[in-house]
Amino acid sequence: MKGGSLLLLSLTLVASSASFAQTPPGPGQMKPVAYKVVDGNKVDSDTLQGWKTWRALACERCHGAKQEGMVGPSLIDAFKSLDKNEFHRTVFGGRVDKGMPDFSASQMMQKNWENLYAYLKGRSDGKINPGDLQAIDAK
Ligand code: HEC
Repeated sequence: MKGGSLLLLSLTLVASSASFAQTPPGPGQMKPVAYKVVDGNKVDSDTLQGWKTWRALACERCHGAKQEGMVGPSLIDAFKSLDKNEFHRTVFGGRVDKGMPDFSASQMMQKNWENLYAYLKGRSDGKINPGDLQAIDAK
């Protein structure tokens, strides 16, 4: 009996430290990944900012306009498994030796990385169309 409850306690500790490890480095609380999309090309304002960040930082030079991959890998494929922490690590620090630039100096990236993650997740999920987007409430 005693052994059993000890085991339970240690399992609880493992579980809580694992969820703690989900928190990325740097300040701020991580938002849950959420995007809203209507008709494939109308998205919520956060996701729209994510797409604008993609455009402004010209990720498509290497990953392709449809995220299909060119010099850099397909992000459609990568986002089937890439979690937010790994994404954060990749864009803030880059993999400079392998050709992926470090975007940590970009204010747009600092402000919008989670929105960019949501946008790319929506692309990978096949819910958001490639190409131009507009706000859901745009007239
Ligand atoms: C100059 C070319 C270039 C640009 C610009 C670029 N990338 Fe990359 N990216 C790469 C290369 C090359 C890799 C593969 C690195 C490796 O082999 O580990 C990569 C890897 C990645 C990965 C990891 C994929 C995986 O499978 O783990 C992500 C995520 C990523 N890039 C996102 C971005 C985003 C977002 C932008 C724009 C802000 C961007 N990249 C701009 C070249 C680029």
